[in-house]
Amino acid sequence: MEPAKIIADPDFKIGEVDPRLFGSFIEHLGRAVYGGIYEPGHPTADEMGFRQDVIELIKELKVTLVRYPGGNFVSGYNWLDGVGPKENRPKRLELAWMSLETNQVGTDEFCEWARRAGVEVNMAVNLGTRGIEEARNLVEYCNHPSGSQFSDMRIANGYAEPHRIKTWCLGNEMDGPWQMGHKPADEYGRVAVETARVMKWVDPSIELVVCGSSNAAMPTFGAWEATVLDHTYEQVDFLSLHSYYRKQNNDLETFLGQSMDMDAFIQSVVATCDFIGAKKKLKKKLNLSFDEWNVWYTTEDDDKIMKQEPWQVGPPLFEAPYSHEDAVVVGLLLITLLRHADRVKIACLAQLVNTIAPITTVNGGGSFRQSIFYPFMHAATYGKGTVLNLQVKSPKYSNKQFDAIDYLDAVAVQNEEAEELTIFAVNRNISEALPLEGDLRGVEGYRVIEHIVLENTDPVAKNSLAQPDKVVPHSGGNAGLDSGKLTASLPALSWNVIRLGKQS
Ligand code: AHR
Repeated sequence: MEPAKIIADPDFKIGEVDPRLFGSFIEHLGRAVYGGIYEPGHPTADEMGFRQDVIELIKELKVTLVRYPGGNFVSGYNWLDGVGPKENRPKRLELAWMSLETNQVGTDEFCEWARRAGVEVNMAVNLGTRGIEEARNLVEYCNHPSGSQFSDMRIANGYAEPHRIKTWCLGNEMDGPWQMGHKPADEYGRVAVETARVMKWVDPSIELVVCGSSNAAMPTFGAWEATVLDHTYEQVDFLSLHSYYRKQNNDLETFLGQSMDMDAFIQSVVATCDFIGAKKKLKKKLNLSFDEWNVWYTTEDDDKIMKQEPWQVGPPLFEAPYSHEDAVVVGLLLITLLRHADRVKIACLAQLVNTIAPITTVNGGGSFRQSIFYPFMHAATYGKGTVLNLQVKSPKYSNKQFDAIDYLDAVAVQNEEAEELTIFAVNRNISEALPLEGDLRGVEGYRVIEHIVLENTDPVAKNSLAQPDKVVPHSGGNAGLDSGKLTASLPALSWNVIRLGKQS
């Protein structure tokens, strides 16, 4: 095949990577909390019931921030149900996922878990069935040091130090008719701006994410963002985007092109933010929080559990395993997010454990890494620093949905402190290796540290507890660097991490 070419020059940059780009999400949904991060009595559980095997995997994944407690769940949640003595906490019918919520994990437990896992909390407030008052009180509970009703309540509950949560979401997917308390854009915009004002009066240091559309196919997409931002632009810091992808009709080539949809989605939302900023004659640029993204497959079992077997505690929902193909697409989505690092400052892989997740546990048993664990771990480990404005020229393919899809998708991140340059690259060709030629400038004295490859002879291979290593990366890629000229062969349908630097 004709080679793909790239040019990287540290003088031409896109933007800094915010560490929060490698966030994830834990919702009270399925076995994410109960049976996922929390399982008292499990052989690895600590004194609070947190599974240490899961915490170890999360540390390895290098997740930086975790959004909590939802998702659709948050739109029916009363945070007061989840604080104070556990024996007094109510059991509620949870209507987003038709489960029974025991409230044994709430705000304090989650913040403590986050401390132990070494992640920042991104807290969502309920703007569906609740509103300004509860949101204000929750900020006071979490962030005010002491001497007021809710800060003293936190202290009485055993947390003398504030949780110091910096990033907050103003509700979840409020444009979606499935959402409890769903609202038209004008109504949501009004509630969001008033909530934002009082939350920031309680703690001016917080940053707020206002809800964008649930996905780009929503009938109100575009108009929703413009209306909501007309109300909130001055008071908020980020606008949210959500999107899930999946292979349909057994069409892998189209599936591999879907990161182009994510790219177009981000570009449209940036344009809408800038339109409202221009209309308001403001210098302030609004950044984006892509706070739900992943590959997601639902099954008949998921539907059956919710419709025919409701009101279970921690039912196994949305646990379809991930294949090698899915991992390559997750790699493409990560490349897309990194390429927009100038405006996408927060992103959350949805979700983290069991539910739509890179980590799977067995109740009372072991845990393992899904295939999608690896590209995320690589990006979060090596995608630190500045994203360069990489020039790419690649052979292409076309199909029914897309006119021209590059076989090569790639992004380069320079870590000046570590004196490293990392190229993340996917070969979308499903049957042939792709030769790569790179012209790398300003990398004198660099050599190839490692060329990590995720490839598989079986594109639908999946990991399981019994066979956890069916999809794992290796470091045997053949990248070479000589006088700034990079060469490599990217295997068919592969995710590649080419690490260059001064260290050997
Ligand atoms: O992540 C699962 C669900 O997907 C979330 O609860 C919701 O926000 C989205 O529709």
